[in-house]
Amino acid sequence: MIKRPRRLRSTANVRALVRETHLNKSGLVYPIFVVEGEGIKREISSLKDCYHYSVDMLDDEIKELKSLGINSVMLFGIPELKDEEATSAYDENGIVQKAIRRIKSYAPDFYVITDVCMCQYTTHGHCGIISEAGEVLNDVTIDYIAKIALSHVKAGADMVAPSDMMDGRIGAIRSLLDESGFYNTPIMAYSAKYASAYYGPFRVAASSAPGFGDRKTYQMDFHNTDEALREVELDIEEGADIVMVKPAMSYMDVISRVKSSYNIPVAAYNVSGEYAMLKMAVEQGIMNESVIYETMVSIKRAGADIIITYFAKDIAKML
Ligand code: PBG
Ligand code: ZN
Repeated sequence: MIKRPRRLRSTANVRALVRETHLNKSGLVYPIFVVEGEGIKREISSLKDCYHYSVDMLDDEIKELKSLGINSVMLFGIPELKDEEATSAYDENGIVQKAIRRIKSYAPDFYVITDVCMCQYTTHGHCGIISEAGEVLNDVTIDYIAKIALSHVKAGADMVAPSDMMDGRIGAIRSLLDESGFYNTPIMAYSAKYASAYYGPFRVAASSAPGFGDRKTYQMDFHNTDEALREVELDIEEGADIVMVKPAMSYMDVISRVKSSYNIPVAAYNVSGEYAMLKMAVEQGIMNESVIYETMVSIKRAGADIIITYFAKDIAKML
């Protein structure tokens, strides 16, 4: 035989030599949930080994992340007060704003990305302003989204990541940030965010489930991929610096198409339901822990440059 593919698989050294995909800690982002109060570090019932932290309890967590080589987080706030207009989302003393200032006070180089949305902050749990008829209003909402993003950046956020899926929000954020002098702050757009049942555990963690209806009028229909490319294209035109595909594991075809169609960094969000599935399977001994590493490599191989994952710490320990 002239061709024998097994030649390049015969030892660990030669396999490493021809390896095509490399997973690095530097491409991982760890999501963190911050709550009001003091002295709180409470495990999230739907997300094993993930916690709700009060602002003061973030200190040790950031220290641990740094020692593991994880240098960026995505912050999610869970406010005490919800109302129709998500007022606490753009409050200078809101939960996310306080968390950013605290982290930056002792770890100025630590990279803080914030999720920008309204659903945790609204009584109705939708990602925007609701009309009397129950419609999620687009053009009114993007003004709020821009205001929320600006308040995060003013508090010291390094990057903002709008997850609301309204039309035109990237442009609205970009121009408000620019007007306010923050032309150097990048935007990571949740560009292809699908209406997915995989967000279930997150909605328990963030108490952000919609009070009526669903998110299908703004998040994408999971039967579609051409539409994802249109969303990505719009976000790039409006000024997105990084585009995201979400969820990741069941959407690797989308990651792959986005990466091959555009010359821009691509992030993939390995979401809560994906985490819960693997976590439980490993815990119950149904699969070996190496399935976590294999899954992350698969997401990278599909084309993701950045992976946002609740497994970030587990992976850092494995690498
Ligand atoms: C809020 C938001 C959600 C997630 C990130 N930001 C939930 C949703 O859209 O209902 C999901 C994250 C996860 O499941 O891990 N807009
Ligand atoms: Zn939302």
